[in-house]
Amino acid sequence: MTAPKLALATTPVAEASVDAIVIGTVHTGAGLALAPGGEQVDAAFGGKLVEVLGALGATGKADEIVKLPTLGALKAAVVVAAGLGKADDGVTAEQVRRASGAAARALGKTKHAATTLSSVDLQAAVEGTLLGAYSFTGYKSDAPAPELAKVDLAAPDEGTGKEHRATIKAATAIAEAVTTARDFVNTPPNDLYPASFAEKAAALAKAVGVEVEVLDEKALRKAGFGGVLGVGGGSVRQPRLVRMSYQGPKARKKIALVGKGITFDTGGISIKPAANMEQMTSDMSGAAAVVASVVLAAKLKYPLEIIATVPMAENMPSGAAYRPGDVLTMYGGKTVEVLNTDAEGRLILADAIVRACEDAPDYLVEISTLTGAQVVALGNRTSGIMGSDEFRDRVAGIAQATGEGGWAMPLPEELRADLDSRLADLSNVTGHRWGGMLAAGLFLREFVAEGVPWAHLDIAGPSFNTGAPWGYTGKGGTGLPVRTVAALLADIAANG
Ligand code: BES
Ligand code: MN
Ligand code: ZN
Repeated sequence: MTAPKLALATTPVAEASVDAIVIGTVHTGAGLALAPGGEQVDAAFGGKLVEVLGALGATGKADEIVKLPTLGALKAAVVVAAGLGKADDGVTAEQVRRASGAAARALGKTKHAATTLSSVDLQAAVEGTLLGAYSFTGYKSDAPAPELAKVDLAAPDEGTGKEHRATIKAATAIAEAVTTARDFVNTPPNDLYPASFAEKAAALAKAVGVEVEVLDEKALRKAGFGGVLGVGGGSVRQPRLVRMSYQGPKARKKIALVGKGITFDTGGISIKPAANMEQMTSDMSGAAAVVASVVLAAKLKYPLEIIATVPMAENMPSGAAYRPGDVLTMYGGKTVEVLNTDAEGRLILADAIVRACEDAPDYLVEISTLTGAQVVALGNRTSGIMGSDEFRDRVAGIAQATGEGGWAMPLPEELRADLDSRLADLSNVTGHRWGGMLAAGLFLREFVAEGVPWAHLDIAGPSFNTGAPWGYTGKGGTGLPVRTVAALLADIAANG
């Protein structure tokens, strides 16, 4: 898809020769009100904008879009009023991002729009507009070309033009990274399989000067990656392990990123029910986010060293598939008894985490669509964040601040014994359903090197939107948690 071009408005937005003007509304105790930035548009309507929008049913609630024909009051034919929601303590960045996204989705056949939401928060308006305008139509034979070509951004009062242009550039890069992750997730599993995923990831990384190494099945066997080989063995599309190294200028911290890259998860011999199995095309969302984040870090020249370790495999049942009852020897030597081949993510991640820790990182961040239990516990919009206490809380705070959402979850010691195995060092599942997200986190902990601060993000629900579009999130891949990772990396670059 081609993204609209975003640039600072050169004339006051209310005077702009555009097709539509986006303004914000808020929901107050007293009812509907205009968000800051809409004053000139209101003046063009003789100060009656709230009254008219109210008569049209506007309430200012989040995700509300009300379109108003201007009938000559402005050069633009339409005013698009986007609800920001409650704003008693001021409008948040995420409110601006969501309203900008909802507006972009509602602009329909509009070619050239202007927005005043950018005067409230420029970065959020850019991100929300680009993400809301996103569509994935590569597999439609008759998809119309996207119409929205250009959006003029009203500048905030504070800051210089130069600063604003830098903000637009950085926000565009972040939105592009989210889009990259979404594209990977939305590509169907017959086209995105381990070898093709590795190839696409390598091409993106090399284009920005990131060093790439791809281990194929032979190299994996030679090095002893028993988890990746066990899980990937059932597919004719053999597994891969991608390593990407970004060496930033004056890097003082080294960050290891690990992402689950199951390009399709049938469950294997412990096969999943047919209903909704197609959603398992998204089981590589963690890998997609990691690849996109490294490329973004290189584009934005973060002063960090970042090494991504991305295991890619297709979990299929076949005569060559691993079985319940198998014992796998993982990279590094630990043995795991497989009691359920559908708990495959933790097996490929165990290998990857051990490999990642060999680089002696200052922090390790691992991202995966790991458990249905995450969705049961926290729903579709809140990732579960586990790991070492302090770093876990730091990541969770950042996930909240970006608006992507995430909540710190414990790793209860008493669950650990339920992973003990009759045969091997560890089994890959407990014998019960309780605390499934946390048990998976405890399994991963066994493979993290002593003393490395680490975080595990279970994004099973939030990475893929099976419901209606909302805010800047359409159907399908959401691109989470790229913005959280970007903010975390920026935070580490600034504060260590
Ligand atoms: N990929 C799934 C987890 C998942 C579920 C992701 C729903 C996205 C949406 C994972 O590999 C899986 O199958 N997990 C099992 C673990 C169980 C066998 C312990 C699950 O959650 O049922
Ligand atoms: Mn599975
Ligand atoms: Zn899976």
